[in-house]
Amino acid sequence: MITVKSEEEIDLLREPCRIVHDCLEFVGGRIRAGMTTKEVDELVYKFITASGAEPSCLGYCGYPASACVSVNEVVVHGIPDGRVLEEGDIVSVDLCAFKNGFHGDGARTFRIGSVSPEKDKLVRVTEACFFRGIEGLREGTPLYDIGYKVQRHAEENGFSVIRSYTGHGIGREMHEDPAVPNYGKKGTGVRLKAGTVICVEPMIAAGGWRVKILDDGWTAVTVDGKPAAHYENTLVIREDGVEILTL
Ligand code: MF3
Ligand code: CO
Repeated sequence: MITVKSEEEIDLLREPCRIVHDCLEFVGGRIRAGMTTKEVDELVYKFITASGAEPSCLGYCGYPASACVSVNEVVVHGIPDGRVLEEGDIVSVDLCAFKNGFHGDGARTFRIGSVSPEKDKLVRVTEACFFRGIEGLREGTPLYDIGYKVQRHAEENGFSVIRSYTGHGIGREMHEDPAVPNYGKKGTGVRLKAGTVICVEPMIAAGGWRVKILDDGWTAVTVDGKPAAHYENTLVIREDGVEILTL
């Protein structure tokens, strides 16, 4: 069931979303070659808890960390560990904060030093896919128009859309209805109502879209080993557009 949030609820949601945004900025200013993905996770844990929020991912379905830190061919749900970041890596950091009874969710892909032209373009196009996806989005937009626009932009640039993970509704739960796929047919799906809160999160691969999950049960990698990128914001559908809460 897709819930519509009241203005009071949206006001409560603003704070965890602002913390997610500020935490992503904080991490972006510090992430560098030589750091381990575990150290990135420690930055996230400290920032979120110091903000008076809880890291929603920690313990979610047994997930062992505060952030997902996904390097190069890791698409999503990279578990922070001793992997050392190197010049030329791209690193997706995905995190959620819980405060005031609500969750905020966001992700960015960071470049470590100078990266290959392909990775550089992938990161740029993945961000652009988010903004294409929300172009014209407002009350009454058919849900799958978002994915249609994301997919068109990704494929026009020679990239592919990950199929097995989607965006989602968010609120008192980290994952609520509806699922928000990054592919789809224009003009289909439910018409979104004002006050619906969703996470739009293109996950785009430089090669094929097939993924496999490693033995840890979480880490999703591209089958062809080519890099992938991720960009996510939490937003509210409004009568005349969207209000992005993690930007
Ligand atoms: N933040 C992720 C999302 O965008 C969810 C991570 S699930 C976790 O939906 F358990 F890995 F944290
Ligand atoms: Co999300």
